[in-house]
Amino acid sequence: MKRVQFTINGDLYEREIHEHRTLLHVLREEIGLTGTKEGCGAGECGACTIIMNGVPINACLVLAVEADGTEIETVEGESKSGRLSPVQEAFDRHHAVQCGFCTPGMLMTIKDLLQRYPKPSREQIIEGIEGNFCRCTGYEQIIEAVLDATGQLEEKGEIKHA
Ligand code: FES
Ligand code: FES
Repeated sequence: MKRVQFTINGDLYEREIHEHRTLLHVLREEIGLTGTKEGCGAGECGACTIIMNGVPINACLVLAVEADGTEIETVEGESKSGRLSPVQEAFDRHHAVQCGFCTPGMLMTIKDLLQRYPKPSREQIIEGIEGNFCRCTGYEQIIEAVLDATGQLEEKGEIKHA
């Protein structure tokens, strides 16, 4: 067992954990933040994407002890204020959530993408989310939601918000 501490969505957590536990399992089972999903458990699907020290990672591939002292952002932080983020609202408008399993990881990948490209092109969005699998094949709605959340559909007159 090892004592670790990390900041998640601005809150400090300290836990005694087994060295072999992944960050994904500690987040979900010991801290209770179940928004982050486990798909493949092998770094292939992106369902477990979180942001650690500003970099998107697959939480299933990182041991929790490796996250000691880091700053972590998970999907729960996106609506911490009690309001959905602009991207979450756009997901809702465009029906970009079907079963929802890929959504938390997708949102964190998009968060990182928008930090690098505040108004990403369609091609940049496609490239940005290529590591996140949506088994419901809702990619088109997700792309439209990102274009909408960044104001690009309204600029083109394709949509008008009140
Ligand atoms: S669960 Fe981590 S990449 Fe699939
Ligand atoms: S909405 Fe079902 S996997 Fe993407």
